[in-house]
Amino acid sequence: MSLPPPIPPPSLATPPKARPTELPIRQIPGSHGWPLLGPLSDRLDYFWFQKPENFFRTRMDKYKSTVFRTNVPPTFPFFTNVNPNIIAVLDCKSFSHLFDMDLVDKKDVLVGDFVPSVEFTGNIRVGVYQDVSEPQHAKAKSFSMNILKQSSSIWVPELISNLDIFLDQIEATLSNSSSVSYFSPLQQFLFTFLSKVLARADPSLDPKIAESGSSMLNKWLAVQLLPTVSVGTIQPLEEIFLHSFSYPYALVSGDYNKLYNFIKQHGKEVIKSGTEFGLSEDEAIHNLLFVLGFNSYGGFSIFLPKLIDSIANGPTGLQEKLRKEAREKGGSTLGFDSLKELELINSVVYETLRMNPPVPLQFGRARKDFQLSSYDSAFNVKKGELLCGFQKLIMRDPVVFDEPEQFKPERFTKEKGAELLNYLYWSNGPQTGSPSGSNKQCAGKDIVTFTAALIVAHLLRRYDLIKGDGSSITALRKAK
Ligand code: HEM
Repeated sequence: MSLPPPIPPPSLATPPKARPTELPIRQIPGSHGWPLLGPLSDRLDYFWFQKPENFFRTRMDKYKSTVFRTNVPPTFPFFTNVNPNIIAVLDCKSFSHLFDMDLVDKKDVLVGDFVPSVEFTGNIRVGVYQDVSEPQHAKAKSFSMNILKQSSSIWVPELISNLDIFLDQIEATLSNSSSVSYFSPLQQFLFTFLSKVLARADPSLDPKIAESGSSMLNKWLAVQLLPTVSVGTIQPLEEIFLHSFSYPYALVSGDYNKLYNFIKQHGKEVIKSGTEFGLSEDEAIHNLLFVLGFNSYGGFSIFLPKLIDSIANGPTGLQEKLRKEAREKGGSTLGFDSLKELELINSVVYETLRMNPPVPLQFGRARKDFQLSSYDSAFNVKKGELLCGFQKLIMRDPVVFDEPEQFKPERFTKEKGAELLNYLYWSNGPQTGSPSGSNKQCAGKDIVTFTAALIVAHLLRRYDLIKGDGSSITALRKAK
């Protein structure tokens, strides 16, 4: 099957009106339903009766279209200021309109029309919520990309030494038990590692932060995001108590202030670099805390368990192949240079991100009236309408990916695999794209896949066998 041409990056995009389409124009199928009742019924389907993946899939099948109207939570009764109406875009072609900054506005749409209170970020709107047309966006984005650049010399040694502490801990627990739940120690490792590399702040200098920094972040994340995520508690309790209203910032203000003070006191060098990009000291601290706690810690906390599961439960023989590559091609010491040689390991990282994109939903608001196309139809979108992509289905687009439901470790190898990277969108842009101040692609796009590949390589150099899944480890056989 030949691949559809990718939509060019924003800077090269032809203005949509000048982009002729041969496709038949179709009215966008689906509806937002009766006021209040339509959104409420969709919300119950989304969180309770169908769950997100099925929610989008059943509607896609019903309307025989990858583009349709529906509602996403949060909704009625206590979210009166939130408009849940969206246009779902569920194939690679229609979704990629969200990367075209001429077409969509990304102001305050990180998690949809609902915006967690700015109190959670010190009463300032951090860069992630800003559109590219806002001057603060480029400042905050350059700051975050600079943080990564500055940390490049310590990234690998800190990663490996903190990973070893985590693994020693798992091995010790495993010596008296048949299974270890690793989520909490993994988050502890992530918190320490990310604080050190991103903020240059060592949690061990502040005993309260060293002990509870990770759980402080978890609470801060949970209270902001609860109205939009399914946590799997008993229904209808979850709908009544977790999805019907926002929780107040006061619940986590003490923790957030402690994290803020920790960064302010120990992350001086990084904060100063933020002021060089035109941010005030306060803006630099809140942006840094957000990139550390939300983007990086939050993102890796979701992604790494999936990655461990991919290695532990991949197709027969995968671990042996990965082990061979990690040991024979990773060089004497793992580092940035090892990466180029680790083709299968990189491919497994990409395939895990394809099957389980850690940030499943992306939104963008039409900046103007324009024509949006899927493979078979074009649709008129009106200025102000909210587009919503659910990556878990987009990354299984059968036009682009052969056997899209299968985990194929070698999918992203060789020439064809390199071409497919144009359609790997977990970072809110193609894996072949480059984050910048004029787009909204994840600033950590490369460091995320690099770090994940190093973790896989290190695990397979340290162990001959790893057994477990996305939540526990049941066996680790050390390399002889
Ligand atoms: C597994 C880890 C990560 C995942 C899954 C992830 C995913 C994403 C996604 C999907 C977005 C776009 C959100 C949207 O606008 O709709 C994003 C934005 C962003 N990410 Fe990441 N990210 C990760 C790690 C990181 C890291 C390590 C950094 C460190 C600098 C980072 C910095 C950012 C920033 C600054 C933005 C906002 C970009 C902008 O406003 O233009 N992320 N990330």
